[in-house]
Amino acid sequence: MLHCRKFRMMISVMLALFLGGFALMPVSLESEEAFQDIQSLQQVRLSEEEREMLERDAVANEGDILTIGLSQIGSESDWRIASTASVQACFSSRNGYDLIFDDAQQKQENQLKAIREFIDQDVDYIILDPCVETGWDSVLKEAKEAGIPVIVYDRRVDVSDEGLYVAWVGSDFRLEGDRACAWLREFLKSKNMTDSIGIVDLQGTLGASAQIGRTEALEAAVRENEGWNLIAQESGDFTEGKGQEVMRDLLNRLGDKIDVVYCENDNMAYGAINALKEKGYTVGTDLAKGDKLVLSFDATRNGLKLTLDGGIAVNTECSPLYGPILTDMVVKLDQGQALAHDTYIEEGQFSALSYIGSIRVSDRSYPVTALTEDLIRTRTY
Ligand code: AHR
Repeated sequence: MLHCRKFRMMISVMLALFLGGFALMPVSLESEEAFQDIQSLQQVRLSEEEREMLERDAVANEGDILTIGLSQIGSESDWRIASTASVQACFSSRNGYDLIFDDAQQKQENQLKAIREFIDQDVDYIILDPCVETGWDSVLKEAKEAGIPVIVYDRRVDVSDEGLYVAWVGSDFRLEGDRACAWLREFLKSKNMTDSIGIVDLQGTLGASAQIGRTEALEAAVRENEGWNLIAQESGDFTEGKGQEVMRDLLNRLGDKIDVVYCENDNMAYGAINALKEKGYTVGTDLAKGDKLVLSFDATRNGLKLTLDGGIAVNTECSPLYGPILTDMVVKLDQGQALAHDTYIEEGQFSALSYIGSIRVSDRSYPVTALTEDLIRTRTY
């Protein structure tokens, strides 16, 4: 059924096309324009592959205006800002979408409210990046009863019935954590370091998949590796400010006992490094000389710069570029195609230390890419 909002939207797109001197035809994406859109949105750029996917999907969308209600968590990190830029650029009116974007300011109650509003507005699809894993059953049931398909991305929902959402795509956060810990093990082995080490864990937002998976991996590694002592765990809520505050507090309490700072995202790593420097500590990989070794996740451009400079010893990637992936999913659903229910995205790992070229997790080998300036230049966020 074509409701008012969609009708108004369709008219405005038709008018725009007409005024632009085009015949009424499928809305097709101008790659260069999309590229500029994205650059203006937080300097995020698309890879060739993403551009091609976007172009294909825009044509497949055939001028049919799809209304998307997208509930974003907030803007707590550089990762999140890049993720928002990616989805906003891809679900653009030029591509045939009417995107109703809601920023929940890191509060689940705001996400629940936004989803209920999307249902009232009878959107075609709801897309959700859930702040935390639990507490979604009722609202997802309401969406299902209203006949609106829900796609979940990045973090996961923990619900009684997985049929409450059509598909999820995101990171394997536990694997990310396992890879970071496997790198630390290799690093300590390469230095013949058998002394006990004190580790502090700067956790993300408690209850978020990204926190749960990364924290579980560290806890498991601490159980498995003799001499690894987890001396503190505290949430920095994935933000630089909170990360700095928490690290200051940990240094006041534990100072010299800390050897390794396991930061569950880049922004908290920036905050932790600021706090360490404030207190006169050095950051690096020479633990024998008193350096504090920092591990991080995301591998944003700034995170990678800090990794190349030696501030972060290893940075495990978490990709925020969901725009092209989600538009592809929506187009497929709209064409009646089935989607895989759960899809993990492939991610990398980066370090300035080139001698650890790979690590192993559960009998599988994963590459560790040696960082270069050139590689950082190609980073789009
Ligand atoms: O859910 C992805 C995580 O959330 C990223 O690691 C972090 O930076 C973001 O805020």
